[in-house]
Parts: sequence; C-alpha cells; structure tokens
Amino acid sequence: MARHVDILQHPETAIAEASATLADGLPIGLPTETVYGLAADATNPAAITRIYETKGRPRFNPLICHMSDLAMAERYAIFDPISRKLAEAFWPGPLTLVLPLRPGSDIHPLATAGLDTVGIRVPQGFAGELIRAFGRPLAAPSANTSGKISATSADHVHDDLGERISLILDAGASVVGVESTIVKVEEGEMRLLRPGGLAAEEIERVAGQPLKRKNGASPAIEAPGMLASHYAPGAAVRLDATAVSPGEALIRFGRPDIAGAENAAIVLDLSPSGDLAEAAANLFDFMKRADGSGAAIIAFSSIPDEGLGEAINDRLRRAAAPRE
Ligand code: TXA
Ligand code: MG
Repeated sequence: MARHVDILQHPETAIAEASATLADGLPIGLPTETVYGLAADATNPAAITRIYETKGRPRFNPLICHMSDLAMAERYAIFDPISRKLAEAFWPGPLTLVLPLRPGSDIHPLATAGLDTVGIRVPQGFAGELIRAFGRPLAAPSANTSGKISATSADHVHDDLGERISLILDAGASVVGVESTIVKVEEGEMRLLRPGGLAAEEIERVAGQPLKRKNGASPAIEAPGMLASHYAPGAAVRLDATAVSPGEALIRFGRPDIAGAENAAIVLDLSPSGDLAEAAANLFDFMKRADGSGAAIIAFSSIPDEGLGEAINDRLRRAAAPRE
C-alpha cells in the first residue's frame, strides 16, 4: 500500500523519499500542475517497464520525459528556433514539445518507443524541484489505469494505483486539470499533436503563426495512445445534451437550462460562471463523481470549442467513443 507524503508540510521528506524510490527503479505518484503523473527514471529500462505494468498499458507508447528546466532539456534534445521560443515563453508549464533526440542521450528507447524524437516538458513547482534534485529526467504518463480517467488528486491516484505503487506525493488538486498540450515543429511549421492545458491561441500568439491541426485519419505514429476510447468512466457518456432523462447524471457548463435536470441522479456544473480554465480543473474529478453516483449515463451539456475548451472537448469525445 502506497505511503503518502504531503509536499507542502514535508518538502524535504518528499524529495528524499521520492529520490530514493526513483533510484530503486520504482515509479511514484507525482503531482504536476496538469495531472498527477506515474513517474520513473527515464534512463532506467526496468523502471519504465514498471510504469507500463502498473498502468496495465497493453503496448509501449512514447512517454513524455520531464525535465527541470530548458538547460536540462537541451542536453537531451535538439531545439529549432520556434521550439526554443515556445519553451522560453511557456516553461515551466503545460506544454510538451516533440523534438529530435540528441545523439548519445541516455534516455532509454523504452521511454521514446524507439523513435528518434522525444516529448519533453518542464513541469511547474515541486515536480521540477524533484527532477533537479534527482538529476535525471522522469518519464511520466498520467497516474491512472490505462484507458481510465486521469488522476487530478492524490486520492484519485490512491484509489486507482495505491496497491501497486509504494509512494504517492500529495500536493492537493492539480490546478490545470487536463494533460499538457503537445506540439511538434516540422520544417518551420507547428503541429498540434494533442490539445491540452495550454490554449492553442496562446501558442499561436507567441509563435506568430498558426498551429496545424491533424486532419483526416489520425496520425497513429505521431500520437499513439491518443486514439478511440480513453478517459472512460464506468458509465456511458452522452455529449451536447439539451435534456436529461431521470436517473442520468448531468455535467453542465455555465448554468445552461437543461430540461429534466431536477430528476437527474446528480447535477454538477464545471464552471457556473463559464470559465474554461475552471472547467478544465474540475473535469476529471466531476467525471469520477458523476460515475460514483451510479448513473448508467453521464450527459454533458455543450462546451465552447475555444481556448481550453478544445482540450476539454477532445477528452469528452474520447470518453464518449465506442469501447473496445
Ligand atoms: O500533462 C501531461 O502531459 C502529463 C503529466 C503527467 O505531465 N503526462 C502525460 O504523459 O500525459 P503521457 O506520457 O501519457 O503522454 C504521452 C503522449 C502520447 O500521446 C504520446 O504519443 C505523446 O505524448 N508523445 C510522447 N513522445 C512522443 C514522440 N516522441 N512523438 C510523438 N508523440 C509523443
Ligand atoms: Mg493518460
């Protein structure tokens, strides 16, 4: 059963215990500003294998490698001018850049799934301090069983993976609430591989050029693990609801009038004032609460597809996708 260490009350204990556990090649539950990660030494193949075993992930996908700062990232990857500009503007923060691996880098091929590129991000706050103290990059997918809802609190991690890991660091609720935005620059053009906790509009403003969305068939090689059913609660998910049936759970946004709401099993509003950042921060916790109501269906009212709404709608479409 995992031990919990509160990083605000016991920061030194948290760094010491986390460093020792990581050095033993074991994954830990690590808070970041986006979601909680299941973090392990990105240079240690046994440690990376344990991430996959712990999540029950059926196949190896490239994992995001977390660094303490841009200087550390430059030791592992080669930056083009646009990527460097984005890193300088948004790191530490919810942006992942896919970059060519620097030859001789000791990031293990299991972390990159054998690709010649690496996804790198510099997280805010404690996670960055831990990486600085540990001295090596940490590979960290979200800390949840494969295909399930991502964890945005230490309790979520505990309920899902507490039996399978030995240490969970607790920093309270994740402030952003959805995973990082993933961008890859190719031949001077920016491509959005995953919408996330940094709005596409902000990236375009800093870069002074548009982010290309993928169109048509999903580029499986670019974003494996981003396909079909994902972020799935136990209940079925129904989108763009304007009415609910008795006993359905309702998750709405911005106090819309939804017919039948008075007979719903539970009614939650992601942001009564219509703030998309607040909605992103509440999303996964509310999905778990709606699921916990026992309703067979969770109905969502529509959410604007701008700013962080792009990431929220991406996760909702995956939650609603047909299950395998
Ligand atoms: O917010 C986040 O990004 C969280 C927290 C814990 O930091 N991490 C996270 O990591 O979501 P992970 O490993 O689950 O993200 C993996 C995604 C996959 O969709 C994968 O395809 C993409 O990142 N990715 C990683 N490396 C890549 C690469 N070299 N090329 C293309 N996509 C890559
Ligand atoms: Mg995940």
